[in-house]
Amino acid sequence: MYIFRGPVIVFILALFSLLSTTSQRSTCSEAFSKLKEDRHFEQCMKLPTLGAEFAWNIQEDHARQVNQIDVFFGTRLHAEIGWLAWGVNPTNELKMVGTRAIIGISMPNGTRAIDTYNVTAATKLGCGLQPLKIDFFKNMKIEYSDKNHYFMISASLYLPEPEYNISSLNHVWQVGYQSNGMEPLMHPTSLQNVDSAETINLKTGVSEGVGQHRHHLRKMLALRLKPRRTDEYRKFWNLYHHCLGYALLAAISVDIFLGIGILRPLDHAWKWSYFGVLGILGVIFLLFEIYSWCKFLNQKEKNNQEQRSQNK
Ligand code: HEM
Repeated sequence: MYIFRGPVIVFILALFSLLSTTSQRSTCSEAFSKLKEDRHFEQCMKLPTLGAEFAWNIQEDHARQVNQIDVFFGTRLHAEIGWLAWGVNPTNELKMVGTRAIIGISMPNGTRAIDTYNVTAATKLGCGLQPLKIDFFKNMKIEYSDKNHYFMISASLYLPEPEYNISSLNHVWQVGYQSNGMEPLMHPTSLQNVDSAETINLKTGVSEGVGQHRHHLRKMLALRLKPRRTDEYRKFWNLYHHCLGYALLAAISVDIFLGIGILRPLDHAWKWSYFGVLGILGVIFLLFEIYSWCKFLNQKEKNNQEQRSQNK
């Protein structure tokens, strides 16, 4: 199989180049830009998941080794009740456990409140997440815009160096739809919810998210197990599944052919028999392909007709 070595190496190199992607993400939406300008925030970026947007200002104080960052974080929540969290994680890993967060909660009785929380391994295991004082969070605020349904939280953080490096800060965000008083309850675990963490350089606005890498990997390789029909990744899985199947069939056929060549049989009977078998398999393959394409196109036409009749 030495003939496949070159393309395999190119493929692996391409994969690694994807893994090291960083991005300067698009600036915020018009609505959020207006909200952050009213609050005098300068830098702003759309985050990759949960429709979240993030604005910030920094004031470095090298003498005291404490950097002040003012943060403003918001998203449009589908339900009026729920919670919104944003936090920083001083551990080396981009994950929920270890995050010091502010969580804004909108309660069923209409009151809104915000507090600080330390998200631990016990939280992940289901132990209640109760407010805990974290000294470096100040001036916390929770707001809701009736006009465009933005749920927003903001705070000033006084982050000690070198524990928190603002050129490479792990930040984590999340939304949930249920709470018990000031205790936020478990959030959904869709792809959007588990990809909501990234490392950001607050000085340049360049970020590198766990989701970006996973997103690329899920798309080119479809490494996730077979996604549901409604899943946004299903089309990539289908593509991957078919292409891999065809590529394997081609590789196996060529490999057997090469094997016959290596064995150097005295007559050409083996080679011609193999061509014969391949030919028969090829015809069967073609018939099945025609059948499945007809079925696929019929189903598509049926779905379109149903859609049209529902729209009438
Ligand atoms: C309310 C209590 C919470 C519970 C019970 C909880 C539980 C969990 C669980 C079980 C997972 C793993 C899901 C999976 O892999 O399928 C998870 C992931 C995650 N959670 Fe939470 N969580 C809570 C609060 C938070 C908060 C406040 C944040 C953000 C500040 C957050 C951010 C994340 C992120 C980014 C992930 C994906 C990355 C990771 O697994 O570490 N969670 N959470």
